[in-house]
Amino acid sequence: MSSMKNKFYITIPIYYVNDKPHIGHAYTTIAADVLARFHREQGENVFLLTGTDEHGLKIQHKAEETGKDPQKFVDKIASEFKNLWDKLDIKYDNFIRTTDPKHKEAVQRVLQALYDKGAIYKGKYEGLYCVACEQFRHENELVDGRCPDHDIVVEKIKEECYLLKLNEIQDKLIEKIENDEPARPAGGFAIQPERYKKEILSFLKNEKLKDISISRKNVSWGIPLPFDLEHITYVWVDAFLNYLTGLDWNGDPEKLPERWPADIQLIGKDILRVHATIWPAILMHLEIPLPKVIYVHGHIRSGGRKMGKTIGNVISIDEMLNKFGVDGTRYLLMSAGTFGEDVDVTMERMMEKYNADLANGLGNLVSRVLRLAQNFQSSIINHQSISNDRILNFVEKLELNSALGKIWEVVRKNDKFIEDNKPWELVKTNEIKFKEVMQKLISDLHLISKLLVPFMPETSEKIKKALETKKAEILFPRIK
Ligand code: MSP
Repeated sequence: MSSMKNKFYITIPIYYVNDKPHIGHAYTTIAADVLARFHREQGENVFLLTGTDEHGLKIQHKAEETGKDPQKFVDKIASEFKNLWDKLDIKYDNFIRTTDPKHKEAVQRVLQALYDKGAIYKGKYEGLYCVACEQFRHENELVDGRCPDHDIVVEKIKEECYLLKLNEIQDKLIEKIENDEPARPAGGFAIQPERYKKEILSFLKNEKLKDISISRKNVSWGIPLPFDLEHITYVWVDAFLNYLTGLDWNGDPEKLPERWPADIQLIGKDILRVHATIWPAILMHLEIPLPKVIYVHGHIRSGGRKMGKTIGNVISIDEMLNKFGVDGTRYLLMSAGTFGEDVDVTMERMMEKYNADLANGLGNLVSRVLRLAQNFQSSIINHQSISNDRILNFVEKLELNSALGKIWEVVRKNDKFIEDNKPWELVKTNEIKFKEVMQKLISDLHLISKLLVPFMPETSEKIKKALETKKAEILFPRIK
């Protein structure tokens, strides 16, 4: 196992490139960036991986529709993802693309190893395929013959293919998920938050896992199986391996990257089942340690419904960036609700929150304190009104909106403190008291700036600079 000291390896799902990035993608990625920055601040050796999932039928179709060569098509969308992450101040360590030649070679090496071990065998598979999920769905999940998640008609597929043994690992998998305490360093497989662990355990205990098809004959855009070139690797198998190839792994199970296993893998609830079945199965067959934690988050919805072009309630991430700026967008998404649950956002509510918490809240506090500070010269004494342990604990546990809530309590407390103490009067009447008041205000702003490092890196830096130079620019202009 890993010998690297103090390492913290975070992954997020690699995004399909059938369409441009949206707010849901931004949500996962910002959360991962917050966590990564937080652990970096603690002096850990952090690696944040992101990337794009570029093969499969869905993308093949989309490229065909646009009349573009598939590689050109995916190149374009992959670069849109990269641009968005730059705009959102995402500090990732590698951007893996499943069309990278090195990734493809590694996937083939893994498939060959699985085949040689007898974990993959030739057979037939029959099922109902949803191309949007890139997954087979159960008959009993469908609504009028349509996929419950994507509302599209599923396709009946019956073909010769290669299958991965899932059934034979089922009991061991249940045991791993049940015995996730302590997840580290025992190499358990913790599914968090707790309700998702329960959900997946009840699924695994009530249903016999069928071996799953891992190849398709009538798909052309993908990686051919090395032992039967007529078959193309199932896109999810190809995709999962990014979590290892993104660390420059060449596919040799004997030579694992130093950073493996992942310390945390963030995923949306829609892709939990595959991450808790096919993914650990591949690793277990190869005798590779499982990731320590799979952390599941809920979805962003708008106006009580799933966002969709047909409903017309899609909130564009570019529009958010234009209105709220980078840190405003990061703040609004991370404070929108509990990370593990679905959260509902509307543009109107976000505008209100922006004005209340950022323009009138933090922004106003900073400019007030700095205006007062022009009459004040003193070094800072540590005088902070709260201990930050609880806040740090919230971030560590991915209770990001609670952490922000606590930081904003400090903001409001300081506002009230200014109102109660009226330092603009004290400066004329009571110099000693004035100094005390200012010292507390300034130390709290230092604290706020420090706590904001992972969430709002630019704002944090600006507050720090303002305190040094005693000059404040307007952090968050009010919007109408
Ligand atoms: N390509 C696969 C993942 C392969 S990982 C080995 C995939 N891609 S995706 O682009 O469809 O979704 C990627 C992630 O975005 C998922 O975790 C999904 O939950 C998340 N989101 C997509 N829409 C979302 C919201 N509306 N809200 C929050 N996250 C959502 O699945």
